[in-house]
Amino acid sequence: MPGLLLGDEFPNFEADTTIGRIKFHDFLGSSWGILFSHPKDFTPVCTTELACAANISDQFKKRGVKMIALSIDSVQDHHNWSKDVMAFSSKAESSLPFPIIADDKRELSVQLGMLDPDERDKDGLPLTARCVFVIGPDKKLKLSILYPATTGRNFDELLRVIDSLQLTAQKKVATPANWKVGDKVMVIPSLSDAEAAALFPNGVTTKEMPSGKNYLRYTQP
Ligand code: BEZ
Repeated sequence: MPGLLLGDEFPNFEADTTIGRIKFHDFLGSSWGILFSHPKDFTPVCTTELACAANISDQFKKRGVKMIALSIDSVQDHHNWSKDVMAFSSKAESSLPFPIIADDKRELSVQLGMLDPDERDKDGLPLTARCVFVIGPDKKLKLSILYPATTGRNFDELLRVIDSLQLTAQKKVATPANWKVGDKVMVIPSLSDAEAAALFPNGVTTKEMPSGKNYLRYTQP
């Protein structure tokens, strides 16, 4: 992911989209944002992904996250493809509930390091990988995940990581493997036991480890 690291301000790019020309920061406003890229319009895996994202778009909205997709085709192609996507999601009468960025010149894909050199179109030009960027209300990059074109994403997992990002932005906790909302969380290592006791009124439990080090500290957020 050349050029864009966690904590960096996300570029305030301008782009044509299915809702018109946008300036990215204005599009986000004070919301969280998720930008997910696709290799190409009218491709099978991408169609299942966009349909899945459309089906759970209310879950992103509930979390205050603005969704935007990107693919390296034109706005007109995106409009036409969106109809297929909504038909695939069995909601042919509805329109896609989020915009798609038209990056037919691949400018943004290059700027954001999204091209997958192993996947090429019929003219030999590289396609976009399946990138996911989650951007915080401060416009900083909070998470990036990069999948190859041949592996479709799990959008429920993206909701799960957003739950973790939003929780850990508010509280000095970290979420363990396979965590989901309602589960216990871990106290971050930089907090002393005294600080943790003061910060977490629900109490802190520590799991004993063979090393004798008390670093596995759980609390209910
Ligand atoms: C797809 O979306 O199905 C796809 C796109 C590019 C390469 C492989 C699969």
